[in-house]
Amino acid sequence: MYIAVMGYGTVGSGVVDLINQNQERIARNSMQMSMDIKYILDIRDFPDSPYRDLMIKDFNIILCDPEVKIVVETMGGITFAYEFVKKLLLAGKSVVTSNKELVAKHGVELLQIADSHNVNFLFEASVGGGIPIIRPITHCLTANRICEVAGILNGTTNYILTQMIDNNTDFDTALKQAQQLGYAEANPSADVDGFDACRKICILAALCFGQHVYPEQVPTNGIRDLTLTDVECAKSLGCVIKLIADAKLRPDGRIDINVAPALIKNHSQLASVNDVFNAILVRGDALGDVLFYGRGAGKMPTASAVVADVIDAARHQLRKLYFGWEEAQPGFVAPADEQILSLFIRGKACSDAAREAIRQNDALTILPEDSLPADQIAFVTSPMARSEIESILDAIPDFEKLTTLKMTDY
Ligand code: HSE
Repeated sequence: MYIAVMGYGTVGSGVVDLINQNQERIARNSMQMSMDIKYILDIRDFPDSPYRDLMIKDFNIILCDPEVKIVVETMGGITFAYEFVKKLLLAGKSVVTSNKELVAKHGVELLQIADSHNVNFLFEASVGGGIPIIRPITHCLTANRICEVAGILNGTTNYILTQMIDNNTDFDTALKQAQQLGYAEANPSADVDGFDACRKICILAALCFGQHVYPEQVPTNGIRDLTLTDVECAKSLGCVIKLIADAKLRPDGRIDINVAPALIKNHSQLASVNDVFNAILVRGDALGDVLFYGRGAGKMPTASAVVADVIDAARHQLRKLYFGWEEAQPGFVAPADEQILSLFIRGKACSDAAREAIRQNDALTILPEDSLPADQIAFVTSPMARSEIESILDAIPDFEKLTTLKMTDY
């Protein structure tokens, strides 16, 4: 079986290495078909690579080669990935991708094209890196009505938060460490501002609840503004701070979906997910809670999921694997201000009137002030609609909100 790999970066080179390293096992698991990489597409030159003879720069060579049945897309980004993957599926080739941006933005269209051309579009590596999560949701948990999916879906931010919590390292220093270790990019925005986690929760929500969710529909907040004061407040509440992406089915059939820093109780399994590890909690009506944990990024963990998809595509050449969902219906995602939730809020209360207004409000529970600067106050709201919380905050005189953290019950 001939395959092609598009993009020879971290994940793509891991895929090539893994296929060569485990060739016998892969053949055995692919019904005795050997996997031969025929082309590696990349615009860069790799003169010292042992695979230099396979390197090409022209996508059309892959598109027009009838021997290539399965193509791996590990280029990342959208523009070329979308154009190439669409053309490949239309040409009757199965595609395996690790590209969460592509699946979150164009997944429903690409799945429909794959379906109508009797090929597979597989993306196990797009969420949770090497952690099996797409198949467990679509196969093992398929008898459940899933009511919630929540997780730590970004390794870089989890590393930064772990440094802040365990070593009292401030955000900027922890970010620099993450960059030195190669976790965070020079421009860390996709990770620290929550966009990477947002794309991943869109994919999980579509799988769990059956309709496409676009990243623009997800209120997304990252961890950039968190300080060691927030970490101390969390500790005083018996919690840790984690960047949580979650999607929850409402009684009215719509979903609430968010990416936000959140307070997790110390006894929760999610609280002990540290460093670059990811974890995904799925709540089903029959099974209850189930947690998937492991390495959410990195060359070989992600390659592990990609190559498993390649093997599955080889095994199912004439049969469509079901990983589908429908186009989004208007109103499927409930507006953020209708979400019922409890929030931790820290802010500057610059007058006695501000403190008095907060004290007088029965819906707000004030935290002890020992870990706060003198001009600040922190409190937790009772559960209520986000719009009601905003109205309460607006009515407090001289109050400047600094940090908002979601309370959770995982
Ligand atoms: N930058 C991502 C992370 C890589 O830190 O989790 C995998 O999407």
